[in-house]
Amino acid sequence: SWSMGSFLDEAVKEVKQRVGNRQVLCALSGGVDSSVAAVLVHRAVGDNLTCVFVDHGLLRKNEAEQVVKTFRDQFNIKLVHVDASERFLGKLQGVTDPEQKRKIIGTEFIRVFEEEARKLGEIDFLVQGTLYPDVVESGTATAEVIKSHHNVGGLPEDMKFDLVEPLRWLFKDEVRRLGEELGMPEEIVWRQPFPGPGLAVRILGEITKPKLAILREADFVVTDEIKNAGLNREIWQYFAVLPDMRSVGVMGDGRTYAYAIVVRAVYSHDGMTADWAKIPHDVLGNISTRLVNEVAEINRVVYDITSKPPGTIEWE
Ligand code: XMP
Repeated sequence: SWSMGSFLDEAVKEVKQRVGNRQVLCALSGGVDSSVAAVLVHRAVGDNLTCVFVDHGLLRKNEAEQVVKTFRDQFNIKLVHVDASERFLGKLQGVTDPEQKRKIIGTEFIRVFEEEARKLGEIDFLVQGTLYPDVVESGTATAEVIKSHHNVGGLPEDMKFDLVEPLRWLFKDEVRRLGEELGMPEEIVWRQPFPGPGLAVRILGEITKPKLAILREADFVVTDEIKNAGLNREIWQYFAVLPDMRSVGVMGDGRTYAYAIVVRAVYSHDGMTADWAKIPHDVLGNISTRLVNEVAEINRVVYDITSKPPGTIEWE
């Protein structure tokens, strides 16, 4: 009978035949799809695969380190880690409009990737973590948004590669099972969806280093408490948002004037529609207490109880 193991064998064989001794490039984001695709292709072509990980400085706590550790140290995959944080932050300075932010990040991402690809010399193939639902073109607005950043489209004419898309027959849950079959760590295989523009779409207003630091810590606390409560597999996404807003509070015998943080958590199957997650009050209480105690710049916590529609999952 059909199993993930035999799918994997077939897929590896197919990539091997197609690529032969030629060179393959992969834009690794650390997300489930590109990660599983990269590990599968590596099994087929070994060192003829080079992964480029563009770190835009908008990732979560420890995320970049984890990607490097997993792919370079655990899987022995050739990995170019490009720390482009300063470059992205520079371009984003003073920008507050959500669409503008997305455009800048998307454009800059392609530029950095292209520069790195050129340094590598002759490349014949590009790996993409395209899934079956992308192939059948659902044609919805959300699908377009998801594609706009993750597909490395928009490369110049002289850089058109043949695509290797080993996941094109699979749905998300099958990709996760394939990842397990490949021996990938649970943090990657069961990762919640994360937008290409990263924390940029969760910081309202201008993106600055101090705000990024606050959001990173806050997001870590939310994630940690959801995991501690054992809710991480049933909730589709759970994270913190930093609205551009401060309010008055009291701590000890002093008045505080500090940031409010929004906790966002939703149930969903595909991200197209979502229900706000009915997190038990004691879990919300723990999150609130820890946020205020552990993140100095936060003195208020609110929970977003909007479903999609009418709200989107992300705040920008
Ligand atoms: P919204 O906020 O539109 O998000 O309800 C729907 C799903 O898509 C994710 N998302 C993105 N994923 N690049 C991505 O790869 C993006 O630019 C992007 N924007 C939103 C979001 O996290 C949710 O899962």
